[in-house]
Amino acid sequence: MMEFVHVAVAVLGLLSLGHSAPVTSCENLLQPREIYGSQLLGKWMLLAESTSIPGSKMLLQMLMENTWVKITAASEADTFHSLQIQKMMGKCFTWKKNMTLVNNTLTVVGDYRVSGVLLNTGCPDCLVIYLNMTMGRIKVRALQLLSTRVRVSAAELEEFTKQAECLNLQPPAIMDLEEGLCPDPTLAPETNFTDRTTDTISSEELSLLEELLSSESGVKTFLDMIRRSMASFKQD
Ligand SMILES: *[C@@H]1O[C@H](CO)[C@@H](O)[C@H](O)[C@H]1NC(C)=O
Ligand SMILES: *[C@@H]1O[C@H](CO)[C@@H](O)[C@H](O)[C@H]1NC(C)=O
Ligand SMILES: *[C@@H]1O[C@H](CO)[C@@H](O)[C@H](O)[C@H]1NC(C)=O
Ligand SMILES: *[C@@H]1O[C@H](CO)[C@@H](O)[C@H](O)[C@H]1NC(C)=O
Repeated sequence: MMEFVHVAVAVLGLLSLGHSAPVTSCENLLQPREIYGSQLLGKWMLLAESTSIPGSKMLLQMLMENTWVKITAASEADTFHSLQIQKMMGKCFTWKKNMTLVNNTLTVVGDYRVSGVLLNTGCPDCLVIYLNMTMGRIKVRALQLLSTRVRVSAAELEEFTKQAECLNLQPPAIMDLEEGLCPDPTLAPETNFTDRTTDTISSEELSLLEELLSSESGVKTFLDMIRRSMASFKQD
């Protein structure tokens, strides 16, 4: 399928020489980009995310205050360490993941399978990642907008929203990263981080999650559960 996409892109690219296609066409916006490992390295702000889960916009906006990711090269070729730093309910959490880059596809190695490709973007310092996640029977598609900046222009956000529409995803959750970011854990030993890397999910929890994420009413129930646990969390 990917091969077909590449061939199609190459052919269309040739055909459109001289009369450049409008940037806003889905065809153009969904063109995969070549991933060069070195372009992934550094500090990335997660500015927007859209998924295939109905109601996920609210879910994301509620769960994540802000998220940024630090990507470094591993000693093995085409392998990367990713450190995700996330603020939720006023507290700082970290997740460590290892990723490989094979055949222009990024894959996260772990107990659930995530793979992603880069899509075209008019934003010069952004990555637009189209992801597939499989966890039990849950299959989620997601589109993420990452930038080295804490804020992108309205036009850049609009382009991303259009990309999500082209992929038939839910409206994106837009994150505000202009204040309150958790610091880099290696530079701020005084900050209390909770590392979630080794957290696992039981098969009962997975079944519940499968059920909740499968419908909009399920997501609403899930949101209510989160709201209640947040209320008790804040009293701690
Ligand atoms: C990532 O890979 C390193 C070896 O390069 C290993 O020590 C580490 O445990 C791995 N981390 C995760 C989260 O899988
Ligand atoms: C990568 O692509 C090549 C050629 O298309 C194929 O032979 C190989 O199996 C692919 N590798 C993986 C890990 O998908
Ligand atoms: C998502 O998964 C489907 C099949 O499981 C595959 O055809 C597609 O290429 C994947 N997309 C990405 C972005 O990895
Ligand atoms: C750090 O966070 C953990 C987990 O939330 C908590 O148990 C611990 O008491 C906190 N420590 C400090 C010094 O705040």
